[in-house]
Amino acid sequence: MRILGVNAIFHDPSAALVVDGQVVSAAEEERFSRRKHGKRPVPFAAWELPEQAAAWCLESAGLRPEDIDAVAYSFDPRLSRPADEQGLDDPWDHLRISYAQRAPGFLAAALPGLDPAAVRYVPHHVAHAASAGLAAPYPQSSVLVLDGRGEAVSHLAGRYAGAGLEVLASQALPHSLGLLYEDVTEHLGFLRSSDEYKVMAMASYGEPRFLPELREAIYPTGDGGFRTESVEWAALAKRLGKGERWTQDHADLAASVQRRLEEVLLELVRWLQRSTGDSVLTMAGGVALNCVANTRIAAEGPFDHVWVQPAAGDAGTSLGGALHVAATEGEPVVPMAGADLGRGWTDDETEAWLLTAKVPYERPPDIADAVATCLAANGIVAWFQGRSEFGPRALGRRSLLAHPGYAVNLERMNEVKGREQFRPVAPMVLAERAPDIFGRGPLPSPYMLFVHDVAPGWRDRIPAVVHVDGTARIQSIDRHAEPLVGRMLERFEARTGLPVVVNTSLNTAGRPMVDDPRDALECFGSAPVDALAIGPFLVRRNRWP
Ligand SMILES: [Fe+2]
Repeated sequence: MRILGVNAIFHDPSAALVVDGQVVSAAEEERFSRRKHGKRPVPFAAWELPEQAAAWCLESAGLRPEDIDAVAYSFDPRLSRPADEQGLDDPWDHLRISYAQRAPGFLAAALPGLDPAAVRYVPHHVAHAASAGLAAPYPQSSVLVLDGRGEAVSHLAGRYAGAGLEVLASQALPHSLGLLYEDVTEHLGFLRSSDEYKVMAMASYGEPRFLPELREAIYPTGDGGFRTESVEWAALAKRLGKGERWTQDHADLAASVQRRLEEVLLELVRWLQRSTGDSVLTMAGGVALNCVANTRIAAEGPFDHVWVQPAAGDAGTSLGGALHVAATEGEPVVPMAGADLGRGWTDDETEAWLLTAKVPYERPPDIADAVATCLAANGIVAWFQGRSEFGPRALGRRSLLAHPGYAVNLERMNEVKGREQFRPVAPMVLAERAPDIFGRGPLPSPYMLFVHDVAPGWRDRIPAVVHVDGTARIQSIDRHAEPLVGRMLERFEARTGLPVVVNTSLNTAGRPMVDDPRDALECFGSAPVDALAIGPFLVRRNRWP
């Protein structure tokens, strides 16, 4: 079967294509439209579809809309209820439901030839769950989904044994750990359902001194669910406007919310493991992008293995929805092999972009070795290789790279990207060298969804990637799965003695990650980057170094 997955309801609109149980492609609309997160998560934007991402998924597989057997839409309006009945303060929510009801017609209009009767509604949290339990490389797992909200719940705890999902618990709205975290994100002057990771980063600068208050308001109920009573945030720390300076109170509030989230999550996973007796936990939903919480779940929770969907936010529900329909139809579902599910270009196509842009370039004998040389000379390199990543992390396809041995390179990277100075950058490391340098978090860690302690002897050697609390959010590189990145790391180590480079996403503040060669050239043209490695080609600024 050819199944198109579509996420359009809240934010991070995306499309995915699953053929005969195998994930063929997946991409977020933002990479095409160049609008971060695709759209704002407001009810009156729910009609907007991932039109370009869906069209690309079909086109790249040589399919026409009429060839599609089923469309999985990752929200089921039949499960929703009026917002006021659900305790939600959202006077326009009925628009969202109404647009979801009309999605088959909208989809048929956006993709002429598509049969509107092929559209199937997949409950939002079932789509998240499938993106974890069916995409993970385990035949059986307990699955935990937590996000802001779906139709009427904010959570699902269950189990995949074979292709079928057994739901064991779900938490009705308005109680929501995701919405709670979004509330505090907004209170701290950041953009809700976008900047939650900044709260997590800020938390490491604070002390959790508001925990007693939060423990009273946010607590597990012993049956797999939880309560989130409303919290008077302003009584704990003054509300911040956009860009306003934060104080210790704000860092302490972030630390308290983060710590309480971790405590409740640990209770939920303990309950789940008692119910299933499983050894593997798979996770998805926006809350599962919280790598600090994931690390505590892996380190202190009862499961032996924890696997998190790299596109854990709503983007991943297009992939999960399509996998769910495939499994429901009895197709053998193949776990996803990696997150490189987006667009890619041949060497000839890439060279044509460079010729069109009249940019001087060279073709070194080995681009990995040439980049290692640039990095060893302390250059910042934009790295554009292969198919783009699905999900919010740069995983060696669309990255900005730098030398980790100079503390000032954290500042340089944040300057290139035009973002806050408290934001950390992350290391990529050869998988076989990771255990010598990074502890506590699970290894291997290919998707940057956990944090690790940096061994004391290494903190001074790679200061750019060591966070203020002595941790780092690593990506381990398997040189067989990622030969080009592996070779670049190996050559860098040969020159510097460090099997680690700084890796952050290739984009500037407020923009989506670079996706196509034009984006790469535009980013290179406007940001203080020394070289661009695009396919086998190297573009050096002013013939640097
Ligand atoms: Fe979600």
